[in-house]
Amino acid sequence: MARPADGDPGPASEVLVREDRVHRRLYTDAGVFALELERIFERTWVFVGHESEVPQPGDYRTTAIGRQPVILSRHTDGSVHVLFNRCMHRGAVVCRAERGNSTVFRCMYHGWMYDPSGELVGVPFPGGYGDGFDPAEWGLRRVPRVESRRGFVFASLAPEGEGLAEHLGPAARYLDLIVDAAPAGEVVVRAGVERYAYAANWKLQAENLLDGYHPNFTHQVAFEIAERRRGRSGRRANSEGSGATARAFGRGHGALHYGAARRYAPDPGDPAAAAHRRALEERLGPERAEEVLGTDIQLFVFPNLFFQNARQHFRVLRPVAVDRTEVEAYPYALSGAPDEVNRRQVRGLAWWASSAAFGQPDDLEAFERCQAGLQVTAADWVLFARGLHRERQAAGEVVGDVTDEVPQRGMYREWKRLMADGDA
Ligand code: FES
Ligand SMILES: [Fe+2]
Repeated sequence: MARPADGDPGPASEVLVREDRVHRRLYTDAGVFALELERIFERTWVFVGHESEVPQPGDYRTTAIGRQPVILSRHTDGSVHVLFNRCMHRGAVVCRAERGNSTVFRCMYHGWMYDPSGELVGVPFPGGYGDGFDPAEWGLRRVPRVESRRGFVFASLAPEGEGLAEHLGPAARYLDLIVDAAPAGEVVVRAGVERYAYAANWKLQAENLLDGYHPNFTHQVAFEIAERRRGRSGRRANSEGSGATARAFGRGHGALHYGAARRYAPDPGDPAAAAHRRALEERLGPERAEEVLGTDIQLFVFPNLFFQNARQHFRVLRPVAVDRTEVEAYPYALSGAPDEVNRRQVRGLAWWASSAAFGQPDDLEAFERCQAGLQVTAADWVLFARGLHRERQAAGEVVGDVTDEVPQRGMYREWKRLMADGDA
């Protein structure tokens, strides 16, 4: 599994992750980080972008899979492609802009031109290449496997392996639950992005997304402000025994499921919420509509996609270095829902997860404190034992109390599986 750093034999690889704990080197060792990019991000299915970000022919957005720059583009025939952003002449990135619309990507170095499907459509002074030069062989390379679910585009750099549906497992049902809140059956991602970075390892954010233990402490002040605004306080959904659950699905995915402890949508006491419910009942029937509106969930699709459905946004993790991570938070609109519902929900992102918000900045402080504390060599282990004795299996999911470290244990089981794959 993990290669030890140069000159440092380190612990035997198989003991870096145990059932109830992981070694501090998962967060501090640049050799482990490099191997994670190769064996996790550049191998398994990762989220790339949403189809609604490139609605028109010629629309594109650039991003990266692990270290490798890619372009998500919409071809003139309407098809969506994920292309490696690497000129086939001498290797320059052909598209630098974050997003835009163009029917041709023109490399700034020597002017080679590609269409949105990656085909090479122009080479300046072609006489220099003689008759044997076949442009069909020199199109932008395509990412080997691309599949989407409800408009969410995933890609894998591994040419072979399990398909997206198999990989998502129960996570697909939860993704459906989130998207089904849109009366038109799809979400639209076109309201910009909130971007932030922190000086700590990417897995600290990944662990935290489904950490139902910390909110009462890390976010105590935020909760108090919210309660004061509402003019009441009450038992919090993130208390032990609230009935909310933490779940692991396999393949590293997981969710917090608040059940009756916290609803996604308010009861229809106001006209916008009532109209939303009516529209959903029409499309889905009353039972499914109640399931969708009554279920607040947080979903993590390992390794880089997270949904907070009550605040109507998803986040994408981008590991930059062993001790630096970027996070992008994308608000989305529920297509067909009243504008007021979308406005209200998306305001939740600004309140909770923007850079000047009440929630997320406190998490970032915790991550950086962990990164600093994990430099201590007198203690090796980071503990994920909470709730191990009381977790249970239910329909392909491991389920525990919302404050238990069930999803984190699931994530590290997958981490270990992927990191071991390739060792002799
Ligand atoms: S590197 Fe792109 S045209 Fe030369
Ligand atoms: Fe938090």
